[in-house]
Amino acid sequence: MQDLKGAVGIVTGASRGVGPFIAERLAMEGVRLAIVARSEDGLRETAKRLGRYGCEPLVVAADISDEDDQRRIVDTVRRELGAPSLLVNNAGLEHITRFQDATVEEIRKVILVNLFGTEALTRLVLPHLLAAGRGHIVNIGSVAGRTAYPYGTINSSAKHGLVGFTWSLREELRGTGVGVSAVYPTLIADVGISAAWQGGRRPPMLGQVTPQQVALAVLTCIRKNRVEITVSPVMERIADVVSAVSPRLTSWVARNTGVYGYLRTVADARRNSDLHHPQ
Ligand SMILES: NC(=O)c1ccc[n+]([C@@H]2O[C@H](COP(=O)([O-])OP(=O)(O)OC[C@H]3O[C@@H](n4cnc5c(N)ncnc54)[C@H](OP(=O)(O)O)[C@@H]3O)[C@@H](O)[C@H]2O)c1
Repeated sequence: MQDLKGAVGIVTGASRGVGPFIAERLAMEGVRLAIVARSEDGLRETAKRLGRYGCEPLVVAADISDEDDQRRIVDTVRRELGAPSLLVNNAGLEHITRFQDATVEEIRKVILVNLFGTEALTRLVLPHLLAAGRGHIVNIGSVAGRTAYPYGTINSSAKHGLVGFTWSLREELRGTGVGVSAVYPTLIADVGISAAWQGGRRPPMLGQVTPQQVALAVLTCIRKNRVEITVSPVMERIADVVSAVSPRLTSWVARNTGVYGYLRTVADARRNSDLHHPQ
C-alpha cells in the first residue's frame, strides 16, 4: 500500500513497549488509528503522544485473546472510523523461564495472545480488506521465531507459528490486493519486554535495535509489500540466513558464544526474583 493518508489502521499492544512507536510511525503517515491493549491508562498516554502528529486515535481497551473482545475491537473500529485496511498484530507476552518451571496457565496465555489472538483478530479484519481489494497485515514476530531460543521456548514456539501463518496467508491472498508481512526484531533497547531483563552482561553476538527501527520496518513492509524483515545488527541477519540452510550451525554458534548461557541466566534471575516477590 503506497498511500496511507486517511487509511484506517489498528495497532495492538499500543499501551507500552514498541507498540506506541509503531503507532507513532503510522500516525506520521496520516493513518487514522485505533490503538488496542488491556490498559486504558497506557493507551491514553500513547494517544497523547500521537496528538503531536494531529492524530486522535480511537482507544479500545480490550484483551486480544478474548473472542468477545476481538469482535468488539473490529465492530468499534468500523463504527467509529470506518472499515479498517491496516492491522499490526504487535501485542505479545513472553515468559523467559526454564520450560519445566512454566505453569500450564503461562503456556496457555502466551499461545493465546501471541498466536491465537493474532490469527483470530486477522480473521475478523480480513473481510474488510478483501471487500476493498486493498490492505495490509503486519505480524510482529521475533528472531525467537526463526531459530532455537531456549528459555524463551514458549514464546519461540508461538513466534515460529507466526512465520507459518504469515507465509501461508500471504500465499492464500496473492492477487487480492491484500498483503501479509512479518517483522522479526532481535532484543529491543530501552523499552519493551527485554529491556528489564537481568542477566548480567549481554554477549556481543546478541544485539539490540531501537524501537524506531522496528517501527520503520513495519512501514517498509506495508509500503513495499515485503514478506518479512529481520530487524537486527548485521551478525544476527547473517545468522538468520545461515539458519535457513543449517539450523544446527546457528545453534552451535549461539551455544558457543554465550547466547544460550545468557538466556539461562535471565531465566534463573527471573525465577529467583519471583521466589522473593511472588505475585
Ligand atoms: N522487546 C523485545 O526485545 C522484543 C523482541 C522481539 C520481538 N518482540 C515482540 O514485539 C512485540 C511487542 O513487545 P514489547 O517488547 O513492546 O512488549 P511489552 O512492552 O510487554 O508490550 C506488550 C504490549 O502488548 C499488550 N498486550 C499484552 N497482552 C495483551 C492482551 N491479552 N490483549 C491486548 N494487548 C495485550 C500490552 O498491553 P497491556 O498489558 O496493557 O494489555 C502492551 O501494550 C511482541 O509481539 C514481542 O513478542 C519484542
